[in-house]
Amino acid sequence: MSHVSGPVPGADAPRVTIPQLHRFKTEGRRIVMTTAYDAVTAHIADPVVDAILVGDSVGNVCLGFENTLPVSMAMMIHHLEAVMRTSPRALIVADMPFLSFHLGAEDTVRNAGEFIRRGAAAVKLEGGASRIDMVRALVDCEIPVMGHLGLTPQSVNRMGGFRVQGREAEQATAILDDAVALQEAGCFSIVLEGIPAELAARVTDALEIPTIGIGAGPACSGQVLVLHDILGLLEGHRAKFVRTYVEGYSVLQEALGRWAGDVRDGAFPGEAETYRLPEAARDTVANWQPRAKRTAEGAA
Ligand code: KIV
Repeated sequence: MSHVSGPVPGADAPRVTIPQLHRFKTEGRRIVMTTAYDAVTAHIADPVVDAILVGDSVGNVCLGFENTLPVSMAMMIHHLEAVMRTSPRALIVADMPFLSFHLGAEDTVRNAGEFIRRGAAAVKLEGGASRIDMVRALVDCEIPVMGHLGLTPQSVNRMGGFRVQGREAEQATAILDDAVALQEAGCFSIVLEGIPAELAARVTDALEIPTIGIGAGPACSGQVLVLHDILGLLEGHRAKFVRTYVEGYSVLQEALGRWAGDVRDGAFPGEAETYRLPEAARDTVANWQPRAKRTAEGAA
């Protein structure tokens, strides 16, 4: 079996840092972020992107849940550790799962600390005004925080589904106010998800810190998409904001089908995939007899 742990090629390249992301915004260079949940996806993503989000989307993308709400700290730690074993050079952001940052500042800092101890450079958490105290507590403990506003998947029940947010003036104003409050509380960046492009542009313009958009139009300081969406690995409905660059699901299934066909036809394994005995051992193996028979023959 091939192995995917260990450093990626070029792993001695310097790690991407938070000040670097800030420079990207000043220089007008767009930030690229995607998700990874294990060593395979981290190896694919790391040479290509500036930041990797170990997202709680692991719940619906990989673990078969309907949404992100069942994802726990233990699950996130398991996936973060797999990503960190590849020694990525991208900035690693670990997503705070549902209820890991809602119950008080001390609990929030302890949970985020579990991610930082395992090598994440930062954490991401969803929400605006109601999470400001948690953001401040984390920043006070030297834990960098990425905010997340707009269509925040952990609020699916309150939102009544995965719906574009900020279309009405009042909601748009609240998102703008929240973005400024998160920046003032010390967030180093904010993900803007599922909001109109004009609103995302206004937020990006109003902030010094970079915004990273997903379904938030082209004016954000960077973009993030779930890796499995980019690579077409998931069956079924795709959100309007997703662009798929390869139909991974059907391409990979077709390849697997060819292997299954080769197995059934006896065409796999061939000579190239087969180990052979050295000359010296061939006669011994060909003339082998069960131990009892060899013992009886030896005694005769
Ligand atoms: O968990 C995740 O993948 C995310 C992105 C969609 C931003 O939060």
